[in-house]
Amino acid sequence: MILYFSGSGNSLAIARQLAEKLGERVLSLYDAVNADLQGETCIGLVYPTYWLDAPVAVKQLVAQLVLPKNAYTFIVITCGAQTNNAVWSVRKILEQKDIQLDYCHKIRMPDSSAIAFGRNPNNQAWKFDKFASRVDLIAKELLDKRHRLHFSWFDPFGWILNTKKVSQKVYRLTLPAINSEKCIGCGVCTKVCPQANISLIDNKAVMDNRCTLCLACLHFCAQQAVEVGGKTTIPERQYHHPSVNLKDMVRRG
Ligand SMILES: Cc1cc2nc3c(=O)[nH]c(=O)nc-3n(C[C@H](O)[C@H](O)[C@H](O)COP(=O)(O)O)c2cc1C
Repeated sequence: MILYFSGSGNSLAIARQLAEKLGERVLSLYDAVNADLQGETCIGLVYPTYWLDAPVAVKQLVAQLVLPKNAYTFIVITCGAQTNNAVWSVRKILEQKDIQLDYCHKIRMPDSSAIAFGRNPNNQAWKFDKFASRVDLIAKELLDKRHRLHFSWFDPFGWILNTKKVSQKVYRLTLPAINSEKCIGCGVCTKVCPQANISLIDNKAVMDNRCTLCLACLHFCAQQAVEVGGKTTIPERQYHHPSVNLKDMVRRG
């Protein structure tokens, strides 16, 4: 079973590709928390790197999972460039549950946060070709049940950045906000937000405080009514993985 978390669909796309090659099924981490996984012989976790670490929601969800002790357990991280502590911190959570991580690797994808820094994630589509063979390599190593942690070191800078005090300032740089003048109350953002952090009040989207920074709301809003850092969102810079559509991203439950 491959458990995933995804904001712009990159990690979902990789989870699906691996599932097909391994003959496994995919399940959202949110659904996995309530699922019976005890009969699984292989557990994969596929999620992105946010701010040099795993997304806060991923760490919270993995902490809640009830995982089988003897399953072959792997992590595949997607990232724009580097994974920093994204494996290390989840591995630590697994170890607290007495679960040994058998394998981890990373795949570079278009950086879904680039829009927050005035750059265009769609200009990074070259990464699909460059790293396509990595998916094949990972699938082969997983089928062989290889024991290899390609990336799992501790990065002190990543740790400092994600401490409560520092992260409060840093996370704001990629915190989405609703531009209520542009919002038409279509509700798409309320459905794609994995955290169920957005609701409609008087036909306008309103955010609560459980945002995990995935930017699904920003990338899927057809009105460009979700902005980050006060910058106007332009359609050309909205991004989602080409194999993933809005329906795939709609939260279940
Ligand atoms: C808030 C935020 C922070 C990010 N931080 C990093 C980072 O520290 N390092 C990195 O290489 N990529 C970073 N990225 C890029 C994502 O890891 C990358 O685009 C990933 O494939 C997104 O996967 P998803 O669509 O499944 O969420 C960040 C993206 C977001 C939205």
